[in-house]
Amino acid sequence: MEGTDPAAPHGYGGELSALLIDAPTLAAKIGQLAAAVAADHDNERPPLLVCVLKGAVLFMTDFARALPIPSEMEFMAVSSYGSATSSSGVVRILKDLDSDISGRRVVIVEDIIDSGLTLSWLLKNLESRGPAQIDVVALLRKPEAVKVPLQVGYIGFDIPTEFVVGYGLDYAERYRDLPFVGLLAEHMYR
Ligand code: IMP
Ligand code: MG
Repeated sequence: MEGTDPAAPHGYGGELSALLIDAPTLAAKIGQLAAAVAADHDNERPPLLVCVLKGAVLFMTDFARALPIPSEMEFMAVSSYGSATSSSGVVRILKDLDSDISGRRVVIVEDIIDSGLTLSWLLKNLESRGPAQIDVVALLRKPEAVKVPLQVGYIGFDIPTEFVVGYGLDYAERYRDLPFVGLLAEHMYR
């Protein structure tokens, strides 16, 4: 990507191998996801958006701004034991919700569904708290995700099984700040 490295203006050099989804394409898709979530809303109270930290932060803020109805925000931090690039499904809550979700329409805002193990654990956990409804909006989904039966109503993009970074997604805490999704160059994690 010499000369046209999209990460260069953000201070990264030669670390990505390709641009996968650019910022305008992300914005257009997020507008569609937000319109769909709003059209399906029939709870008298606003949807409670639950952002799963940290990867979903950029998506959450753009999604909330694109929603044509009022929403409320909650943040949850979980850690799934595993290696840097894959998860095990064993999850620990690092930061829980601040509010009671009973009777609410909860919309889990997720960055990416890979194995789906983290999300299936989270769905079970939140379901036990008596919400009126739980939906999931995930920006990205990898093919592995189909192995776990999950009620994910809203998906942005299906992507190949490759390690992606940017737009909230990290590799060792780097690249979250990029405004697009790209592929990490192999020499960065080999
Ligand atoms: P799962 O439990 O395998 O679905 O893993 C989901 C979590 O793993 C996501 O919320 C991300 O934090 C992380 N993850 C999975 N794939 C990627 C990737 O390609 N890039 C960056 N993080 C990823
Ligand atoms: Mg991560």
